[in-house]
Amino acid sequence: MKVQDKHYRTIWLKEDDSHVVQIIDQRHLPHRFIIEDLTTVDEVAIAIEDMHVRGAGLIGATAGYGMYIAALNAPKSSVQEFMKNVKADGEKFKATRPTAVNLEWAVNRQLEALQSVEDNVDAKISVCREMANTIADEDADFCRRLGIHGASIIEEISKRKSGEVVNILTHCNAGWLAFVDYGTATAPIYAAFDKGIKVHVWVDETRPRNQGASLTAWELGQHGIPHTVIVDNVGGHLMQHGLVDMVITGTDRTTFTGDVANKIGTYLKALAAKDNGIPFYVGLPSSTFDWKIRDGVKEIPIEQRDATEVKYISGLHDGEIKSVLLTPENSPAGNYAFDVTPSRLVTGLITERGICEASEEGVLGLYPEKKSK
Ligand code: MRU
Repeated sequence: MKVQDKHYRTIWLKEDDSHVVQIIDQRHLPHRFIIEDLTTVDEVAIAIEDMHVRGAGLIGATAGYGMYIAALNAPKSSVQEFMKNVKADGEKFKATRPTAVNLEWAVNRQLEALQSVEDNVDAKISVCREMANTIADEDADFCRRLGIHGASIIEEISKRKSGEVVNILTHCNAGWLAFVDYGTATAPIYAAFDKGIKVHVWVDETRPRNQGASLTAWELGQHGIPHTVIVDNVGGHLMQHGLVDMVITGTDRTTFTGDVANKIGTYLKALAAKDNGIPFYVGLPSSTFDWKIRDGVKEIPIEQRDATEVKYISGLHDGEIKSVLLTPENSPAGNYAFDVTPSRLVTGLITERGICEASEEGVLGLYPEKKSK
């Protein structure tokens, strides 16, 4: 993805010092573009928990690099001591954000890689670094591929509309910033736009943290894609008036039966889409499938965050980023960060292997190797 014509990923190893992981600190976007250095386990855990980085794929990639930092900083007196520390750091990362399954997946993948090499600390550190890069490269590649598959749906709608603008609604930020590159909900949009298809995106602002208004709008703007920011309750009205051709969202965890956990409010958009006969698609790399659970509403853990995110809002004022109180000071607030959209409301899942029905048959049809798990 380009930022002012320079290609960036959202996370990388510092060019002249591979002991340093660099990230774009997303708390400052869209007003400031700030790169942060991470060198300790605590810094990585804080970056995930306080959302300097966020979004399922990027949380996974950060955990992957976090495990490499854990390995660099672990005591090297014995392999046992080294492994004990790295495993404990992995548990620390897993506890930072419970809903996005990519986090647990990346930590476990690193632990398997560490266990696969000989009993030598240097060899383990080197395998951990390679695996962190592999997780990041794979994330970018899977998102690129799912973008190509998803663009075919947009192209079809464009043909049906004789080349008129295709209006797509999205919620939160499942864009380039939520992954290592390309994004999931946005990848098909970028691919379609690059092919010359006319698109316009309705961007839900996505309270309380406004990832739509601040991040999705910013990255679509960097790519030159026409878009309009709307408040979270507008989507149903637009759908009733024929102003939405399709909805595409991302997901933080999708069961192998097709239930989709995504940013709070997604379920309401899916209900409105169903009521108006509008296709509702979800983009995801396979790292976001949870192969162990069947019932998303009952089994996916829903993160609850601090009430201050609901009670306060921040933005640019006179060149400074300020936070202001919205509610009576003493009113309590609830901050449920995700909800689950049942598979019956999802038209299809767009993955790196292609598009499938949001059902056990559909998902396992694309990933037959998961059948016995
Ligand atoms: O709380 P966040 O910002 O980490 O939430 C993630 C999201 O932005 C969304 O839920 C997104 O649509 C899916 S993550 C790719």
